[in-house]
Amino acid sequence: MNQATENRGQWSSKIGFIFAAAGSAIGLGNIWRFPYVTGQNGGAAFVFVYLLCILVIGLPYLYAELALGRAIQKDPVGSISAIRPKSGWVLIGGLGIITGFFILSYYGVIAGWTFGYIFKTLFHNHSGFGAFVANPYLEIGLFAIFMFFTVMVVYGGVQQGIERWAKILMPVLFILLLILIVYANFLPGSGKGLSFYLKPDFSKITGSVVLAALGQAFFSLSLGMGLMVTYGSYISKDDNLLSSGMWVAVADTVIAIMAGLIIFPAIFAMDKNPAEGPGLVFHVLPEIFNNMPAGILVGVIFFILLSIAALTSTISLLEVPTAYLVDEKGVARKIAVWIVGGLTFLIGIPSALSQGAVSWLSKPIIGGKEFLSLMDFLWGNLSLALGAFFLSIFVGWVWGAKHAAKELSLGNKSFAKWAPLWGFLIRFVAPITIFIILLNLFNIF
Ligand code: PHE
Repeated sequence: MNQATENRGQWSSKIGFIFAAAGSAIGLGNIWRFPYVTGQNGGAAFVFVYLLCILVIGLPYLYAELALGRAIQKDPVGSISAIRPKSGWVLIGGLGIITGFFILSYYGVIAGWTFGYIFKTLFHNHSGFGAFVANPYLEIGLFAIFMFFTVMVVYGGVQQGIERWAKILMPVLFILLLILIVYANFLPGSGKGLSFYLKPDFSKITGSVVLAALGQAFFSLSLGMGLMVTYGSYISKDDNLLSSGMWVAVADTVIAIMAGLIIFPAIFAMDKNPAEGPGLVFHVLPEIFNNMPAGILVGVIFFILLSIAALTSTISLLEVPTAYLVDEKGVARKIAVWIVGGLTFLIGIPSALSQGAVSWLSKPIIGGKEFLSLMDFLWGNLSLALGAFFLSIFVGWVWGAKHAAKELSLGNKSFAKWAPLWGFLIRFVAPITIFIILLNLFNIF
């Protein structure tokens, strides 16, 4: 390892990268966002489009980010300026870094709810979700605690911080989800939920369903803001990017599908509304835990694991702006982490207060969305799609699909056969599809 790589840090092994990238991908996006968005978009038909988006756009685009990061070994801004110095393209890297900031600002708030629910479950507190999120001190306090955890882990650097946590805890989450799937599907009346979730009615596929599915695919795989460029920059040159990326996408998709296999059977067994929105899992899950044997124990463990899944995502979100300050501005890592963490906390305060604590923030601001939902729309949907649109053009046309394909085949000689297909997907299919869907997005806004 030369001096430069030593200073930047590198994953200790291929499996270390897979766990860290899967840790970033797997989070509230899978367990909180995927079920409620699926519920709002009609169920199985949405799931079908979502899977298609992952396969045709998400995975090929993930390879583009990883290839760029590993080839140049820099954060998104540095990677782009290494290829087109001082060009407008550098702004796209900048947009990614700002997007990381803003997503973290409201994601941290929801992560705080998850953390709070550990204790709510433990102490048998049955007050409703609405009252819980409307308490300003609780909201700000939980958010602050979660941001502090995030800062502390990123402070430790790449290997000791992110990797160690992700490696141990993701498998435990998987097992707990399996147990809950079995339980939920034995509830009387759960069968209707399963068919809502898995039996597609293709007539339900509309423009806005496709838009929601694409947005969810980017959000869930942590794509569109250069995060995988940053993570790719820590991968060693002889690792197989294709199989690593595939593992990440498969793990992320499996966990989301599993979450749905718990939530939908349970919703229908409890006779609740699948389209109720962001509160969905926070309403349904506690009720499962209230009724199942050893429910308190299972519930506490579940919310601990979900908090940790959220933490492996928040540390990745914090890592992007931090790596930028370290690589491009020469700020010491330990100082950069505190600057970014502190600013994100300040930006997140309105989101934390927008669920009933402060009335003007909680009222619909634009398009029927209160402050937090508006942030999720602007940064978690619009900005990620915009970033992916420009980055796929950058990799496919400006840097060149050939260069990227060469990087991808470094650890995988048989990629040559697939390179033309991949080049087609990244040069044409990804940007054109995203463009059309973005136009749609302005329509419904
Ligand atoms: N993918 C994460 C999740 O599903 C959220 C995330 C989005 C993380 C974008 C990093 C970048 O929870």
